[in-house]
Amino acid sequence: MYLADADDSRIDTGLLGVRAASAEKRDLAAQWAGQLGARLLTGRPDDHGVALIADQPAGLELITTQGRPKPVTVDFTAAQILRRLKGIAVRRDPLVKAIGLHRRRDLTVVDATAGLGRDGLVLAWLGAEVRWIESSPTLALMLNQAIELARDSALGGQERLREAVDRLKLLFGQAECILPSLSQADVVYLDPMYPLSSMRGGVGKEAQTLQALIGKPSPSDEELLIRRALSCAKQRVAVKRPLRASPLAGHRPIRHIAGKSIRFDIYE
Ligand SMILES: C[S@@+](CC[C@H](N)C(=O)[O-])C[C@H]1O[C@@H](n2cnc3c(N)ncnc32)[C@H](O)[C@@H]1O
Repeated sequence: MYLADADDSRIDTGLLGVRAASAEKRDLAAQWAGQLGARLLTGRPDDHGVALIADQPAGLELITTQGRPKPVTVDFTAAQILRRLKGIAVRRDPLVKAIGLHRRRDLTVVDATAGLGRDGLVLAWLGAEVRWIESSPTLALMLNQAIELARDSALGGQERLREAVDRLKLLFGQAECILPSLSQADVVYLDPMYPLSSMRGGVGKEAQTLQALIGKPSPSDEELLIRRALSCAKQRVAVKRPLRASPLAGHRPIRHIAGKSIRFDIYE
């Protein structure tokens, strides 16, 4: 996947470059920097922003250069992710109910804001055919690496993880541009970035890194995104929002499913 200057893609304005964590990773770091059209960094950059580090075992991790925040990785084989997958309460999980997978497992879903891939992986794990769309070149690269790593490690016994990963297809670009060219899906799922002030704790830290990398979409992006999502969905659109945030682009949902700190707005 070549990610620099692709049509319809955004540039990750906060990305300072790619750095190798060790001498053995230098070639990989150079390859990834080339794919992203980014600088190859040799030390810790002085500027404020986000650096992508070529490291083991997850392949790539994102770090902000200010303070000492937690690195952000995409690793579907991580113990924490596998625990979440194996512990899903299908009848009660708000994401699962918002998509409708508690009633039917063989749904087709477009997860149009893939991000770190966690929600989409849950849906594929339960049996949905998922098309991921991601507009950040850096995150698309990280997702691609995570898929390859999960396929390799699945050879070591995680058969169900391999099956889930085989149900995921990654598309790189702006969802509002890609959605009209896709065949309709049962469900379109949106989880765009939202204001940091509406989030707390660990999630907020990861979100800070993502926002430093990408920035927040303008209201017109959100309006077009939800309109195109509604046209692409056969059954429903589900939108993740902070519990008390206004609906996406002011579109009133027909109902919502509330979690502890977030809710899913449903449009049918
Ligand atoms: C909050 S994150 C999604 C997190 C994701 N649900 C997960 O489970 O990891 C939002 C992501 O959507 C992406 N995004 C935002 N607007 C987009 C658009 N119009 N098209 C494609 N991706 C978009 C951002 O680059 C970011 O990675």
